[in-house]
Amino acid sequence: MTDTLTQIVMGTHRAGAGATASTYRRLWREYMRPHAPLFALAIGLMLVVAATTTYTTLLLGPAIENMFPGETSSGMSRLVPGLDRVAPGAGGGEASFAAILWIAGLAAISFLILAAATWGHIVLVVNIGERIVAEMQSRLYAHIVQFDLARLGSIHSGRLTSSFLNDTNVVRRSVSTAVTEIFKNGVTAASLILVLFLTNWQIALIATIVLPLLVGVLRQLGKRLRKLTRNRLVEAGTMTSIMMESLDGIRIVKAYGQEGREIARMDVAIRRRQRLEARAQRVQQIIGPVTEALSSLTVPAIIVYGGWLAMNDALTAGELVVAIAAAMRAYPPLKSLSRMQLVLTEGMTAAQRVFAILDEPPSIVEAPGARAIETVRGEIVFDKVSFAYADGTPALRNLSLRVAPGQKAALVGPSGAGKTTVLNLIPRFYEASEGRVLIDGVDVRELSFASLRSHLALVTQESFLFDDTISANIAYGKEGASTAEVLEAARNAHAEDFIRALPDGFDTRVGEHGMRLSGGQRQRIAIARAMVRGAPILLLDEATSALDTESERAVQTALARLMEGRTSLVIAHRLSTVMDADVIFVMQDGRVVEEGRHAELLSRGGLYARLFHTQFAGGAQTPPVPSEA
Ligand SMILES: Nc1ncnc2c1ncn2[C@@H]1O[C@H](COP(=O)(O)OP(=O)(O)OP(=O)(O)O)[C@@H](O)[C@H]1O
Ligand SMILES: [Mg+2]
Repeated sequence: MTDTLTQIVMGTHRAGAGATASTYRRLWREYMRPHAPLFALAIGLMLVVAATTTYTTLLLGPAIENMFPGETSSGMSRLVPGLDRVAPGAGGGEASFAAILWIAGLAAISFLILAAATWGHIVLVVNIGERIVAEMQSRLYAHIVQFDLARLGSIHSGRLTSSFLNDTNVVRRSVSTAVTEIFKNGVTAASLILVLFLTNWQIALIATIVLPLLVGVLRQLGKRLRKLTRNRLVEAGTMTSIMMESLDGIRIVKAYGQEGREIARMDVAIRRRQRLEARAQRVQQIIGPVTEALSSLTVPAIIVYGGWLAMNDALTAGELVVAIAAAMRAYPPLKSLSRMQLVLTEGMTAAQRVFAILDEPPSIVEAPGARAIETVRGEIVFDKVSFAYADGTPALRNLSLRVAPGQKAALVGPSGAGKTTVLNLIPRFYEASEGRVLIDGVDVRELSFASLRSHLALVTQESFLFDDTISANIAYGKEGASTAEVLEAARNAHAEDFIRALPDGFDTRVGEHGMRLSGGQRQRIAIARAMVRGAPILLLDEATSALDTESERAVQTALARLMEGRTSLVIAHRLSTVMDADVIFVMQDGRVVEEGRHAELLSRGGLYARLFHTQFAGGAQTPPVPSEA
């Protein structure tokens, strides 16, 4: 359980050096290759950018040679198409204003093409990035929602939320800008360097001699940045967790006057992230000055050496200008290339976190060839079931019980006895470590999730509602539930009256977690949701605990009607609500210690009798007469 995923999300995991390369390959294979046509288009535009950049640089050669004729011709005028038609004899040692105008016109057109291609390229690249992040978020969300409860319980939901929102965006920025910028600047720099080599290879050598140095610096910076990025993303997760937790528990925070403590807790995380961010920026931005410094060494060297060559007639003025211009124009793409390398590192670090979540196999899976059962009679059997939660404390010990089809069975017992755990094992929220859970004699592990869960209706101990309308919350129980069904369920759950009294009736939005309703109202909506499902097996965990006696009695009557012909497993602390059960299982320490009907258990004088007498001691409540079941 405490494994790579938890380590990566918590930042205690150290990925090996090979991880970045394999992450990059995977990103390409799964997320970028599907957009290969768009990438091809982007690369095409990028080639246009590189070509026009190079061409506009090259045009300086013929321009100079036509301004200052008389030099030995370098043949650079051949680069200008149509020049001999516009200005016959241009480049042949004669000054020609027509040639200069023609070259200037070509330069203007090239620059316009360059601008248009740059715009198209950026738009495309941003688009690809958005598609990639969308795909990644879809997969991530689907995977997280399908995690089992044990897995979800081991990582704070804030950390998963942060990965979903934050990590994916770091990946996007990295992929969309870095990848294509790297191509664009790589091609531009390469072609300018090629121009240098074609102009004069000695000058080219001087200009490129510093490149290996740059690569070495980048390696070192990348290593530092990887670690900083990892910690930054972990800190973002911490911040999200704190935010979610303090807002979820805002009433407790306020009631206990702990706003200051929460603010301080968040401040620590914010400051830590800020420091990491600042350090990462220092690392990333150092690459600009480094390339600047390198170019400050090479450009003067080219001037000196090129000047010396020119003075000895080994280089024309046009060639010298082109060489210097090419060297100077090659540096910004080289600079950006280096910075993008670091942005890429950042993205791969974030992608590793995303992949760690995506690679986490569900621990509870459908068996190969899991089957569906169409109709269920509703027999529930626990056969020597043992179970422990992740921390290892046993919650169920060798527990056996049987609920016959159509029976109303009750689980009672002290808090922590394992009642909720029994209910958790039926829909396979958790997996029994030993023994079997059977429905109609079929091991739940042999059934498909969809089939198994379609036969169950669950009301949990905490009634959870979605931030939606009341009718949507009730209709959640059954796909395509009609208005009439929702209404009937609400009526049976004794909820119709209070719903009608609300300003928007069934269309009232209940707020986050159903905050705008009272506890008892929430519980009745939850019951209505289970009623609408119409499943043959009902699992009710303290379903009526938040209701006043009168409502409870009314809901009990409705539930009794609902339970007719269905199997129900009901947990109740208030024993008055289960006195009429067909069978009562009394649990203690993960075991069934007594079982039978109310009267039998009472006369046995064991745990049940004790619980019963404690509840009705002192005449605070009169034990109600069990109704005829
Ligand atoms: N998600 C969990 N992770 C770890 N331990 C858990 C978890 N849920 C419950 N437990 C432990 O398992 C034991 C049984 O819990 P369970 O919720 O089944 O009790 P219960 O009988 O429903 O109690 P109550 O009447 O208070 O609801 C308890 O000791 C509890 O601490
Ligand atoms: Mg419980």
